[in-house]
Amino acid sequence: MWGENRLTRMLGIRYPVIQAGMAGGAAMPELVAAVSEAGGLGTLGAGYLSPEGIREAIREIRSRTDRPFAVNLLVTQEPSPSAEELQRGRELLAPVQREMGLEPGEPARYAPSFAAQMEVLVEEKIPVFSFTFAIPEQKWLNRLKEEGTILIGTATTVREGKLLEAAGVDLVTAQGAEAGGHRGTFAGTYEQGMVGTMALVPQLVDGIGLPVIAAGGIMDGRGLAAALALGAEGVQMGTAFLTCTESGAHEVHQAQILEGTEDSTVVTRAFSGKPARGIRNRFIDQLAGREEEIPPYPVQNALTREIRQAAARRKDPERMSLWAGQGLRLSRRQGAGELVHQVVTEAEAVWKRFGDQKG
Ligand SMILES: Cc1cc2nc3c(=O)[nH]c(=O)nc-3n(C[C@H](O)[C@H](O)[C@H](O)COP(=O)(O)O)c2cc1C
Repeated sequence: MWGENRLTRMLGIRYPVIQAGMAGGAAMPELVAAVSEAGGLGTLGAGYLSPEGIREAIREIRSRTDRPFAVNLLVTQEPSPSAEELQRGRELLAPVQREMGLEPGEPARYAPSFAAQMEVLVEEKIPVFSFTFAIPEQKWLNRLKEEGTILIGTATTVREGKLLEAAGVDLVTAQGAEAGGHRGTFAGTYEQGMVGTMALVPQLVDGIGLPVIAAGGIMDGRGLAAALALGAEGVQMGTAFLTCTESGAHEVHQAQILEGTEDSTVVTRAFSGKPARGIRNRFIDQLAGREEEIPPYPVQNALTREIRQAAARRKDPERMSLWAGQGLRLSRRQGAGELVHQVVTEAEAVWKRFGDQKG
């Protein structure tokens, strides 16, 4: 039933199902390997990992599976915030820190060095590299290509898809507004990039010549069937994999997703300085209306790290970043391999219902 398409051929996978690379510890080797072993494409969420941590994780994935996998990075430049900007950001967080009994601390660094992370990916000759937030410098794309790595960029508009195509990527993820986590918008305002998956996918399919991966709100086989009907050649699912048994997401995060509903999430800059969709909580509400004072990513992300980590230790959902998409009622607790198989089986059932033998 599952024939090949450009995407499955390029990626060397059986089913057109990609587990999103989710930075922050959810998408680690156990989950990645389980998805790849099941015939999908697992992705290491390496955005916040140190270069050495990335190398270790890649080796761990390779010890668990011979199948292709991806590594995902957040294209980030070293920031140089002004003293004033930092002061404003710290003042904004002071009441939260007081309530939590935390001393305001100095972040060791804002984000890992992107160049050092990329060196590891080149050295390790990874099968697939996916990225978001920007387009990496051409030299990195060329070096990865020389090692045979397939490149996947993230677009939230057709314009961004065209820029990615011109940069020479192999596939483009269409990240709809429903998607959990950070927005990948890099050419335009975040509001311009808030295009729903249903509207974005077919327009991107028409606008570029590369295979398109649909992402945002896809949780089951109905979502996969719908994405393929819109012209996508595969799907990328994040939230759906967060509650799988191999997920590294915090138990409180998982519980909130399993209990969440279609209206539980909001897009906020409160945690990281970059718009991201997550389950609304007290921290988001406390910073609402003060968007102007929040320093940009990754500065705010570093300033809130201590708050988020302390909240996680205390199992306090009100101060944790609970990134999730809008498909919350469809989340399930099961093995990641089981989810991949269930999604493709459900999609087959949809086609059967339509009396179509599509593959
Ligand atoms: C917890 C979480 C973390 C995420 N981290 C990343 C990331 O590091 N890199 C990335 O490209 N996308 C990241 N995303 C976005 C996903 O790639 C994808 O666009 C999104 O999960 C799709 O929507 P869905 O969650 O409704 O499936 C993240 C999403 C979530 C839920």
